[in-house]
Amino acid sequence: MTVPERPHTPQQAYLFADPAAHSLSPQMHRAAFAYAGIDGTYTARRVLAAELPEAVAGLRQSGVLGANLSLPHKQTVLPLLDELTPAAQAIGAVNTVVQKSGRLSGDNTDAPGFLAALADADAPKGGLSVVLGAGGAARAAVYALRQVGHEVLIVNRTHARAQALATQLGGRAAWPETVPWSAVTLLINASSAGLDAPDDSPLPVFPQLDTRALVYDMVYRPAETRLLRDARAAGLRAENGLGMLAHQARLAFAAWSGTDVPVSVFLEALNPAGAAGDAGP
Ligand SMILES: NC(=O)c1ccc[n+]([C@@H]2O[C@H](COP(=O)([O-])OP(=O)(O)OC[C@H]3O[C@@H](n4cnc5c(N)ncnc54)[C@H](OP(=O)(O)O)[C@@H]3O)[C@@H](O)[C@H]2O)c1
Repeated sequence: MTVPERPHTPQQAYLFADPAAHSLSPQMHRAAFAYAGIDGTYTARRVLAAELPEAVAGLRQSGVLGANLSLPHKQTVLPLLDELTPAAQAIGAVNTVVQKSGRLSGDNTDAPGFLAALADADAPKGGLSVVLGAGGAARAAVYALRQVGHEVLIVNRTHARAQALATQLGGRAAWPETVPWSAVTLLINASSAGLDAPDDSPLPVFPQLDTRALVYDMVYRPAETRLLRDARAAGLRAENGLGMLAHQARLAFAAWSGTDVPVSVFLEALNPAGAAGDAGP
């Protein structure tokens, strides 16, 4: 790993979100700055929707590396930026802004972060995947899976949103009743069902999947969702969203600093003691 020269003034990175106080990003990026030997700060700021233009304009200064965007800003930030990566353009959402010479570029590291987490989990390559949800996380998942050649079915509580997503990014909208479950090798929960609700599942009746299937829940709070419990009870491999969270942060940090810090640094910063404790400045 190349360790850049220690700069004289701290490099700054931010999270703009509402709410922001619960975020686990500060502890991950602070660990990455320390590992890389970069004198940097990462500040989670609660930014209301009306405050976003001013907050984004404030990124156009030397010393600022960029920012992460979370709900509700991932889509509304697009017109405030100078350029978008192809992934951000296609997904229609930005989670990482990179500042260079006063210009702001929008990227989406959720999609490659998701693929990296799947690779770590030794997910089946190709085959039939089901994505649950049709919001921003589902858009990143469908885009990523289509990029690597998966056939994708999209199931969402509001079916019309699944249809709209399929029209824009590919795949097909489906209802739980019409999915050929025994052929499914990858089941992704990209909906909010189960978030802070350990007894809720996006699939209250767990289907019978291919025995080689991996169930990946993007939700990571709680660490063991009902969907993951049901999958393990059915004898399947199951992973929560912490790996994706760590990889999207790793990729954002690399885009800002040019330093690819190992994902283990980000994962260690998310250990249970850390996750339950300090969540922001
Ligand atoms: N691990 C990671 O790094 C990572 C990254 C991004 C997101 N996430 C997680 O992914 C989840 C979705 O995030 P998002 O940004 O896509 O949110 P979003 O844009 O608000 O979309 C939420 C989606 O969840 C569906 N939904 C909400 N409550 C539901 C319920 N009780 N039953 C079934 N479906 C429900 C919504 O369906 P309708 O269309 O019917 O409203 C919608 O499709 C969140 O839990 C988030 O924390 C994780």
